[in-house]
Amino acid sequence: MDNGNPKTAKIIIDDKEYELPLVIGTEGEVGINILKFRQMSNGVITYDPGYGNTGSCRSAITFINGEEGILRYRGYNIEDLAENASFTEVMYLIIFGELPTKAQLEEFERDLKENAMLHEDMKKFFEGFPATAHPMAILSSMITALSTFHPPSENGKHDHREDIIKLLAKVKTIAAYSYKKSIGEPYIYPDPELDYVGDFLNMMFKKSPNHIYKVNPVVEKALNQLLILHADHEQNCSASTVRMVGSSKGNMYSAIAAGVSALWGPLHGGANQAVIEMLEAIQNDGGNIEKYVNMAKDKNSGFRLMGFGHRVYKNFDPRARILKKAADDILKELGVEDPLLDIAKKLEEVALNDEYFKSRRLYPNVDFYSGIIYRALGIPKNMFTVMFALGRLPGWIAQWKEMREDPEFRIHRPRQIYVGPTERKFVPIDERS
Ligand code: SDX
Repeated sequence: MDNGNPKTAKIIIDDKEYELPLVIGTEGEVGINILKFRQMSNGVITYDPGYGNTGSCRSAITFINGEEGILRYRGYNIEDLAENASFTEVMYLIIFGELPTKAQLEEFERDLKENAMLHEDMKKFFEGFPATAHPMAILSSMITALSTFHPPSENGKHDHREDIIKLLAKVKTIAAYSYKKSIGEPYIYPDPELDYVGDFLNMMFKKSPNHIYKVNPVVEKALNQLLILHADHEQNCSASTVRMVGSSKGNMYSAIAAGVSALWGPLHGGANQAVIEMLEAIQNDGGNIEKYVNMAKDKNSGFRLMGFGHRVYKNFDPRARILKKAADDILKELGVEDPLLDIAKKLEEVALNDEYFKSRRLYPNVDFYSGIIYRALGIPKNMFTVMFALGRLPGWIAQWKEMREDPEFRIHRPRQIYVGPTERKFVPIDERS
């Protein structure tokens, strides 16, 4: 390595030594490049279920330091962006690599406004879903359906700008329409007079075309910050899914639709809905926090403290820190009292002082407080993970784009260690016992 240490790693198997090059990142992260190892070792592979210790790519989008609780998008600290940027600025930064100039941002926002409408025929798809359909199911289906109305621009231009703009602009409308569908209210068309976040709120909460809805600046600012905090998170489950699906050279829409499905799971983005359901269960159980903490510690219970723990953050999730303070500020500004916030704070305090959580370095993650804020903003529980998807969309797009432009691009196809039956003869059905 640059500071005079070895530039290679050595693996010894049956007295045979294999020397492998190291990959060193700009923040000093070290990876063993095993690209040639299987060939060199005549078939030996590495084994890492869940890929917890495996780098799938080199990426310049997001840097996380799990020990120090650092999160940066293209080198900018999440705290600075959450405090000072707009979500559209962060979209541009994450996807194109630099903060936009005033002119670039104006053009980008204009493109988003001009593309926010859905083709009128797409509204028919919404009619086919039952009112009880989970909005994440609708979102994933409708994103794939988008590609039938807007054939992906395989125009050879690597920046794929047309598809990027269409996805960013139309997914917001699909999200709002899926909510309106679930409550039986008329769809509200995008309003080019409003900014991205204000327009989303308008499409969500304007009751009918003649209803006067005024976007509350406190709500708009809070949602802007929430979307920024969710915008990317390097090679998490859903981003890796987008890369996996995108690596077969399918179109961007299909890869993003797969990312939505991966995010939906309660171990990933579905956790924000699961946290509120957990807090409601504790509330309905007389606020018996100890009982739920003990259940979370009991392997046989099958219960986990939702919103706690993280594959990478082994100290604290900087987003959770920002959201905990934001929850207090926003509820105060909106004059909202939410008993679930008090339960969440008590739960956090009990868990952080408990040996089980301390020894496993389990801390609140981004999902622990976000649901409290969504509730205060009037967003219903079954839309929480859709909000996560809306925030993560620019990150998925950036990961897809970087993967497709990667000089080391190749289709993702992991190996396995086979543990099934060894060779055996076919047995005719009459001879089987
Ligand atoms: C997100 O990857 C990302 O970046 C994701 C994300 C993003 O922005 O994209 O940050 C968003 O998905 C945040 C995580 C949301 N999920 C939850 O809050 C669900 C609850 N958390 C867990 O299920 C778990 O912590 C994960 C899924 C987040 C991480 O799982 P890991 O890394 O596979 O950890 P693990 O399951 O191996 O746990 C290690 C130990 C185990 O105990 P032992 O076997 O060592 O005795 O910690 C325990 C686990 O049982 N543990 C928990 C726990 N999380 C881990 N025990 C109780 N409650 C929990 N929440």
